[in-house]
Amino acid sequence: MAEVVIVRSMAAAGGVAADAIEQLVRRNPRAVLGLATGSTPLSTWTALAARNLDLAQVRGFALDEYVGLPAGHPQSYRSVITREVVEPLGLNPELVRVPADSGPLETAGDDYESAITDAGGVDLQILGIGRTGHIGFNEPGSSFASLTRIKTLTQQTRLDNTRFFDSPEQVPMHCITQGLGTILRARHLVLLAFGAAKARALAGAVEGPLTASLPGSAIQLHPRVTVIVDEAAGSDLVHADYYRYAWNNRLEWERI
Ligand code: F6R
Repeated sequence: MAEVVIVRSMAAAGGVAADAIEQLVRRNPRAVLGLATGSTPLSTWTALAARNLDLAQVRGFALDEYVGLPAGHPQSYRSVITREVVEPLGLNPELVRVPADSGPLETAGDDYESAITDAGGVDLQILGIGRTGHIGFNEPGSSFASLTRIKTLTQQTRLDNTRFFDSPEQVPMHCITQGLGTILRARHLVLLAFGAAKARALAGAVEGPLTASLPGSAIQLHPRVTVIVDEAAGSDLVHADYYRYAWNNRLEWERI
């Protein structure tokens, strides 16, 4: 079962996620991080940046990238990762990959899988969740065994991401995303969610049936998952009281 941590604020959640990353990087300065984009991980990056850790050797793999945006577009996930993760955290840009950042699109999925394998796999994968239940951009119907590939974004996701663009039509229709099978190979999954709009998808992912109709439920197949939510995002969790009780009584030596 996932360890579920219910906190009061996004800042507190970012602190808990940053603790997990800090512990990992202190053990292994060349750790491999899986990087999500969007609003959810921002408090994690802020908390991490404030710790002034040396992250210059850390390697990174973004979860996904839009297909069809011109190179250098400010909303391409390459640009977002550079602006919000690489620069503030002091990562080496040469050690951070984004799907389809080199070579032809047709082979980009296989190339990305090979690059992750060659790096020794992802140690800690930061995840957000979409209202459709997607993790990465694995929209409903995605196979639990799926690997990095091209997907079509749902209209809901395009609408949700319109806030980053000038109009809904500008949000790309296609993306390339790590698959659920790729994500499940990471050694530790850290899923964050904030706000009431995420409550239903989050509860489905943590407590609902395993179903490709709610791709986030794939996390239940993973042996090491930490879910960090604010009260609003956790409001549909049936076992919320137990999660609070378990977290408040965790043993000192238990790692996140
Ligand atoms: C982003 C990603 C998506 C987002 C999800 C939530 O790289 O893979 O799964 O995590 O769409 O987006 P936000 O955080 O903007 O609510």
